[in-house]
Amino acid sequence: MPRQLFVTTALPYANGNFHIGHIMEYIQADIWVRFQRMQGHAVNFCGADDTHGAPIMIAAEKAGKTPQQFVADIAAGRKQYLDGFHISFDNWHSTDGPENHALAQQIYRDLRDNAGGSLIETRTIEQFFDPEKNMFLPDRFIKGECPKCHAKDQYGDNCEVCGAVYAPTDLINPFSALSGAKPVLKNSEHFFFKLSDPRCVEFLSRWTQDGKLQPEVANKVKEWFSVRTNPDGTQSEGLGDWDISRDAPYFGIEIPDAPGKYFYVWLDAPIGYLASLKNLLEKRGEDYDAYMANPALEQYHFIGKDIVTFHTLFWPATLHFSGRKVPDNVFVHGFLTVNNGEKMSKSRGTGLDPLKYLSLGMNAEWLRYYLAAKLSARNEDIDFNADDFMLRVNSDLIGKYVNIASRAAGFLTKRFEGKLTRDFGAQGSALLAEIRAAGPALAQMYETREFGKATREIMALADKVNAYVDQNKPWDLAKDTANNEALHQVCSVLINTFAVLTRYLAPVLPALAGAVETFVGTSMQQWDVAGDVAAIQPYQHLMQRVTPEQLDALFEPKEPTAPVEPAQAAPKKGAKPAAAATPADPNAPGGEALASTIGIDDFAKIDLRIARIVNCEAVEGSTKLLRLTLDVGEKDEAGQPRMRNVFSGIASMYQPAQLVGQLTVLVANLAPRKMKFGLSEGMVLAASHADEAAQPGIYILNPWPGAQPGMRIH
Ligand code: 2FM
Ligand code: ZN
Repeated sequence: MPRQLFVTTALPYANGNFHIGHIMEYIQADIWVRFQRMQGHAVNFCGADDTHGAPIMIAAEKAGKTPQQFVADIAAGRKQYLDGFHISFDNWHSTDGPENHALAQQIYRDLRDNAGGSLIETRTIEQFFDPEKNMFLPDRFIKGECPKCHAKDQYGDNCEVCGAVYAPTDLINPFSALSGAKPVLKNSEHFFFKLSDPRCVEFLSRWTQDGKLQPEVANKVKEWFSVRTNPDGTQSEGLGDWDISRDAPYFGIEIPDAPGKYFYVWLDAPIGYLASLKNLLEKRGEDYDAYMANPALEQYHFIGKDIVTFHTLFWPATLHFSGRKVPDNVFVHGFLTVNNGEKMSKSRGTGLDPLKYLSLGMNAEWLRYYLAAKLSARNEDIDFNADDFMLRVNSDLIGKYVNIASRAAGFLTKRFEGKLTRDFGAQGSALLAEIRAAGPALAQMYETREFGKATREIMALADKVNAYVDQNKPWDLAKDTANNEALHQVCSVLINTFAVLTRYLAPVLPALAGAVETFVGTSMQQWDVAGDVAAIQPYQHLMQRVTPEQLDALFEPKEPTAPVEPAQAAPKKGAKPAAAATPADPNAPGGEALASTIGIDDFAKIDLRIARIVNCEAVEGSTKLLRLTLDVGEKDEAGQPRMRNVFSGIASMYQPAQLVGQLTVLVANLAPRKMKFGLSEGMVLAASHADEAAQPGIYILNPWPGAQPGMRIH
């Protein structure tokens, strides 16, 4: 009986492009989905943009767009990634679609009107309100001084300096990160989902501890039933109620019978899974309610480890107590780090830019294979390592597997008109039987998401095929036509083993499997295909090797965001990276995640010196630049003071006269850069927020008195 499977990945916020962490999750889920389809099961694989919430509303306002237009523009950019990495979603929708509005409202009504007693309760809470923006402020948009360590400019929920957790009302001198205004405390009625209700506690302890969740996930979840951390950092026992409402203005779904109140984004986001499915089924003319009512339907969500609470507590409770089907499982993966642990920021990803990867002509299936080789069923972080990537792709995937076909195809085409024999000889038959016999165990590995194990096992089978090649030496057999029969046999064995191995790899390498299907003329879409390959088409190259140059280019750092203007209109190098490529992250300090950790040796490469601005003037033809003449304590060959000429993009902030005589900091060993207006011999340091539109301003550094030109900064 074919299984009915409904599979999703976490819905990405519609405020930025996909980063490599998203792509990893989609590849993981896609491999699983493709495997299920190859087994003959019916899968609906759905995704959508997570569109609601205050950060997106604020980002849209800053971009001068309506939230609807803003999220539509983000949605328009999704296809190139999904197609580019061969992700086979059946549907991509939006949590702002009509299906989600209707479903979220109905689910809420069902929770409110629950026959065993309402699970929705209203309470008045006191919250910070921005009197200039006329809105309640989410914690992340309130800043102030940490009540514990007194660090300035800390967010409303925790201090990034001392790690203290507190409520926004504990901040000293709080201010709105949106307007800078002093927020006032105001009462507001909020809607709560009563997760502390004994019915919820009983249901969730069962649902989370019945053995379906990954053991490490179940253990973590168990802790939340005994103790939880309150917004003010104190701890309480048991599950807390969940605040599911937000006040207007909010980009979200209106709460029925509660004017001016909206669902908190995390209430409607997972409902977006159902909305995307409904949208898909309706496009196909199928009935959503009937589909969901099928008791055999299985529902799975692939998610990252940072959103486990939402998917193992709030989401199953929302579904169960609104009388709906609950997920059969939630598959949690860890984070992806790049080149030894560079942390992946949730909004900006890592140095591995998926679009750059594709634009360099790098094969999507190299990445799919590499990630498959690293992935397991466990919730653990995996690392993308460039050297390891090259080794696994070139030595394993191509060296061990792809080469099997190329070693045999030429002889078959030239000597046997592409036709294969079915007489494999004793050794060949045994080898083929061994490879076929591995199918069920490999299927089990795919089923349980042990993709790393599966690829290792497939490569071990490929090793056996290569040992057979080395023993039978087709290149030697080909030297004498008396060996024709043996040559035909060996090459036919090789192509048949290659076809079976390709089928085993097809969930990971769908495009390659498609090309092999044409080459060998048997289906690569089903896991079990009886029968042997009868003939081949002339061999076309199936996969190129990765080159070190491609990897160098992939990780070539972006140009520093030096406050300078490029020499030409839009040169590739030297241009300030387009702001759109790395959207500002309102949750990160200064709007951008910290760069990866460096060692002291890396830091020592940058020679920072105290410089005195001996002259400063406007630059004709530029509204951004000032020309600085800097004394860095250097002398020329004649022993005369040598000045440096540096352009700096600070004209919007400073009048030249303000700067003359001031000390500042220069990157003194930066390669000189030819600009339209002359040579720039270094870069002065200046601070700015990543979101220039929202927080304009660029501030040069000014050392304390006493520092002298030429002193090195350590
Ligand atoms: O953490 C996130 O990126 C959320 N946008 C995930 C939502 S998953 C689902 F609930 F929609
Ligand atoms: Zn602190």
